[in-house]
Amino acid sequence: MLLQIKNLKVDYGNIEVVRGVDLYINKGECVGIIGESGCGKTTVGLSITKLIPERKGNISSGEILLEDRDILKLDPEELRKIRGKKISYVFQEPFSSLNPVFTIYEQIKEVLEDKKDTNSQIVELFKSVGLEKIIGKKNIYPHELSGGMQQRAMIAMAIASNPSLVVLDEPTTALDVTIQHQILDLIAELKNRMNLSILFISHDLRIVFSIADKIGIMYAGKIVEYGPKEKISSNPAHPYTIGLIDSIPSFEHRKKLFNAIGGRAPLFSDLPKGCKFYPRCRFRIDKCLEKEPELELVSDNHVSRCIRIAYIVSV
Ligand SMILES: Nc1ncnc2c1ncn2[C@@H]1O[C@H](COP(=O)(O)OP(=O)(O)OP(=O)(O)O)[C@@H](O)[C@H]1O
Ligand code: SF4
Ligand SMILES: [Mg+2]
Repeated sequence: MLLQIKNLKVDYGNIEVVRGVDLYINKGECVGIIGESGCGKTTVGLSITKLIPERKGNISSGEILLEDRDILKLDPEELRKIRGKKISYVFQEPFSSLNPVFTIYEQIKEVLEDKKDTNSQIVELFKSVGLEKIIGKKNIYPHELSGGMQQRAMIAMAIASNPSLVVLDEPTTALDVTIQHQILDLIAELKNRMNLSILFISHDLRIVFSIADKIGIMYAGKIVEYGPKEKISSNPAHPYTIGLIDSIPSFEHRKKLFNAIGGRAPLFSDLPKGCKFYPRCRFRIDKCLEKEPELELVSDNHVSRCIRIAYIVSV
């Protein structure tokens, strides 16, 4: 196992927003996290290299094991060796992630591990991310590239150090639809060619279905369903997942009888008791209010945080 996140809890100003998340990523695997805005996806992604204090948050408990070493216990020097190198990030806004005052060449050179023959390494990187057009153009600054090309440059930087894991946090959300497809194709191709391990964060189920091997559905700071993509798409076992799938027009699904989810996600400062999805759930019964459900097995490798799994998978 490459990365194991165990019982991760994170709060901002004493309000817990990641409330006990477990997630496992194997070598060469893409795990997707999906959920509505504010459910805690980015917080989980940033926690992996302990970037949370920079957002004024606090990791109150949990373990994050990268090949059996607990990242949360590393000292700042050891962490620096991991951040951006063994674990790299690509975020939504490529322009704000790139440094406007340095050329693309300079920024990529900076992250190369091997400082010998950097030019040919950069040429190879540009080829692998589809930036052939700027090969040799050493004076190009980020603002001279289109959004799609900036994101390709970010991806080049993310893979430049041969990372063990790349965290892609809404990497295509800021791009036009055609460019989105191109970037997703690029990510899928790099994953296969480099056997990359990926944590892919998105609020768009279609995108996650297109790229991930396994999917974790997050709601109000917890994973509510987790499993291989095929199982989640053909046999979703949490009402929230069913609602997400039903809200995709044209997505063929046998439970299409139900409408998309109404209402809004609860505030972390005012979470309902029992199941956090209760106020929006079409399957709710009084018993759901008694306590927050645990993750329960639906089938091999497939779990759901709902007390009515048997009923839900049967309808
Ligand atoms: N620096 C901060 N201070 C206080 N609260 C924060 C801070 N950053 C995030 N939060 C809150 O923590 C919760 C989780 O935020 P996070 O950014 O992880 O969600 P997300 O699922 O990535 O959302 P989005 O889809 O909008 O990116 C949200 O309710 C957010 O308001
Ligand atoms: S436990 Fe109850 S309220 Fe929660 S998702 Fe399941 S059926 Fe709905
Ligand atoms: Mg986010």
